[in-house]
Amino acid sequence: MYNIIKKKRDGGELSTEEINYFVENYTKGKIPDYQISALFMAIYFNHMNKRETLDLTRAMVNSGDKVDLSSIKGIKVDKHSTGGVGDTTTLILGPMVAACGVPFAKMSGRGLGHTGGTLDKLESIKDFKVELSIEEFIRNVNNINISICSQTANIAPADKKFYALRDVTATVEDISLIASSIMSKKLAIGSDAIILDVKVGSGAFMKNLDDAINLGKEMVDIGIGYGRETIALITNMDEPLGNAIGNALEVKEAIDVLRGNGPKDLYELCIQLGIRLLLLSKRAKTEEEAKILLEETIRSKTAYNKFVELVKYQYGDIDYVKNPELLPKSDFVIEVKSEKDGYVKALNAEEIGKCALILGAGRETMESKIDFSVGIVLNKKVDDKVNVGDVLAYIHANDINKAKEVEAKIKEIYIIGEKNKENKKLIY
Ligand code: URA
Ligand code: CA
Repeated sequence: MYNIIKKKRDGGELSTEEINYFVENYTKGKIPDYQISALFMAIYFNHMNKRETLDLTRAMVNSGDKVDLSSIKGIKVDKHSTGGVGDTTTLILGPMVAACGVPFAKMSGRGLGHTGGTLDKLESIKDFKVELSIEEFIRNVNNINISICSQTANIAPADKKFYALRDVTATVEDISLIASSIMSKKLAIGSDAIILDVKVGSGAFMKNLDDAINLGKEMVDIGIGYGRETIALITNMDEPLGNAIGNALEVKEAIDVLRGNGPKDLYELCIQLGIRLLLLSKRAKTEEEAKILLEETIRSKTAYNKFVELVKYQYGDIDYVKNPELLPKSDFVIEVKSEKDGYVKALNAEEIGKCALILGAGRETMESKIDFSVGIVLNKKVDDKVNVGDVLAYIHANDINKAKEVEAKIKEIYIIGEKNKENKKLIY
């Protein structure tokens, strides 16, 4: 291990064997944290090339279980977002592509966050079951082209240990380490094609465009190097996506989009991600053809019907989809009103996310219990015109003190002034 650290410290290139050695043995507990910390700091300063990064990813995939999806017919697709605020995309994109006949096989992990993840959101539908056996997951995808379930397998355990160590040694922010960490968890699950939604902006892991583009390219190179069709889109996370931030609120928002009534940005992002998935899966030959197919799934309600089917196959109560008023509701809703005239210039997504967390919509620790009913619904977004007294946002809460605290914060988060010179962009 000493020689591996020294080689990287002096700017050398690690061999496949050296990379396999430290990943395998650290996972087994045979190498102390301080040696891996030193190695990561050397990597941080001297970087890894494409070959080293791919080898590192492969070694991390091999550190745990792989989910074999080869018994699913057709070209199976998967989607991953690098994380944002109020991102309900999977609940819409999945049914849309499945309604086009493309198998959408998505396994999610649970994590910490401002709101719950996809699995938590789905659990706000009564009796919805996210813990499926691999056999049932595969059977559902073969039967109805879609399943969304939790990872029961032991996926990339090396990454769990590495990430925890990087977190406390100031070595998270290296492109090779980030890209291999994210991709190892994706590649362990055997889909044929992957769309990566790389978020950039105040509510994203990557705060500026150059970093996001670098991360996207690195992840695509890993995916393709590993033998999977991979595309990344760089998308805006300067403000939350859609209007709703919170679990049941986001499920309702997803149902709205599936019924053709949801927020435009969320719908547009799903169309753009969907276009790439239809191209990757060879369901469409051109972007135009893909777009028409996807739009038709909303117009004809086949995507909505697919969502109902997904809920039914995972034991959820479909009345909650047909009548979203049944979803968990907070005790009260308060309005946040504007004290200024002008235009919304900025609406920091991360700060809004923190407000949702205060209300109880997310997890601060893995033991936290999520309150499905609470959250925020934005009534004004960036570039919208506002007048004094207009409602900026609605706070759905069960605790009046927390609601008051969040109200004060939201008033500060909305930056209102002159109209921005350039209109915001959704896809970079
Ligand atoms: N997310 C991950 O899963 N890994 C990283 O290294 C950074 C963000
Ligand atoms: Ca949303």
